Amino acid sequence: MKITSLDALQIFDSRGNPTLEVIATVENGISGHGLVPSGASTGHHEALELRDGDRSRFRGKSVLNALSHVKHEIADAVVGRDVFDQTGLDEAMIRLDSTPGKSRLGANAILGVSMSVANAAAKVRGIPLHESLTGGTGTLLPLPEIQIFGGGKHAQGRIDIQDFMIMALSASSYEETLEMTFNVFHAAGDVMRKRGLLAGVADEGGYWPVFDRNEDVFEALLAAIELVGYAPGKDVGISLDIAATDLYEGGFYTLGLEQRRFRSHEFAELMINWVQNYPIVSIEDPMAEDDWEGWKQVRGAIGSRCQLIGDDHFTTNLQRIERGVAEQTANAVLIKLNQIGTVTETLRAIECTQRAGWLPVVSARSGETEDAFISHLAVATNAGQLKVGSFSRSERMAKWNEVLRIQRQLGSSARFKGAKLFAEAGISLP
Ligand code: PGA
Ligand code: ZN
Repeated sequence: MKITSLDALQIFDSRGNPTLEVIATVENGISGHGLVPSGASTGHHEALELRDGDRSRFRGKSVLNALSHVKHEIADAVVGRDVFDQTGLDEAMIRLDSTPGKSRLGANAILGVSMSVANAAAKVRGIPLHESLTGGTGTLLPLPEIQIFGGGKHAQGRIDIQDFMIMALSASSYEETLEMTFNVFHAAGDVMRKRGLLAGVADEGGYWPVFDRNEDVFEALLAAIELVGYAPGKDVGISLDIAATDLYEGGFYTLGLEQRRFRSHEFAELMINWVQNYPIVSIEDPMAEDDWEGWKQVRGAIGSRCQLIGDDHFTTNLQRIERGVAEQTANAVLIKLNQIGTVTETLRAIECTQRAGWLPVVSARSGETEDAFISHLAVATNAGQLKVGSFSRSERMAKWNEVLRIQRQLGSSARFKGAKLFAEAGISLP
């Protein structure tokens, strides 16, 4: 079945910034859409998101050049290709762009096409995307990481740490993870309101808290978990995204809130101490993206008892993941489609992670859309974990809700492992 046309629109993401929607249409008139997300705390090794840079329009953020690449140069290369040949199509776009970071045509343009074609293929087959993506081999529902407090670049640095999240460890089903999250999320709101510390919501829908020390947030989160009767570390674990690349400059890590500065090994020790002192089950980007030595120090000390996820550290890039596996810098990889720019490369990054016995965590961006592609990707690849931001705002809830629909479609073949995933990856939570 041949692709007959590509079209594109400039739409807006959850922060109100321009992004791309691509529409791929095939011979029988069926079309698929691809809506492209956008990050704020981006890694330097990510594929390039092409923005126009004309300050007089949308503060330089419009994507009309990327849109034009879709409609002309990419369309010329893609129209006439087989909608089912995702790999061939993605490789053709990579060759056409010909830069390592997709900087000529834009990773946003290329990804929009890649996702739209994947969606079109599923529709032509008449099956859901999760089934179409990997031939129906995906049946594992994810354990969610859900944000309660947001900080870092998503809350103008009001607290240094970017994400304070929870994972429902004792849940025995996907629905139960959502119920437990609901309970903790609303209890955290009550705690914050009572203390007069609520200042709105951050970019991913978590509470935007006014705290004086990063450790105060742990205390508030523990209060919320206990308020609804859960045992911290047993029923509900804390998961952090430090996004440490944003805290690192000129050889030092800085916690601005507390005006403390750390050398690499000191910051690694702080991360290790936090894991030893709080019921933390997962840390993402505890060290800056290229601080390979710092990563090794953290992995060596706590890699057997805590999930260590590389986000900016790996940028969903096969070469970086392979180096991380060889040097043992982490034990999990955050997977973001637009960090690498095609569906095929994303699937390869997940495979490589799984082959190493590490854990892939499929993730949204802080700038999201109403599209729920990643919910399908997580199930299709049996990734086991999904990170979407908080438990509010429709661009977040669309993903959590989509997993409920996928579960219904899968019926009795749906599986849920929850926190058992960690033991399988050699991580024994204390
Ligand atoms: P970003 O944040 O989309 O702004 O990069 C998400 C994350 O760091 O995981
Ligand atoms: Zn991150």
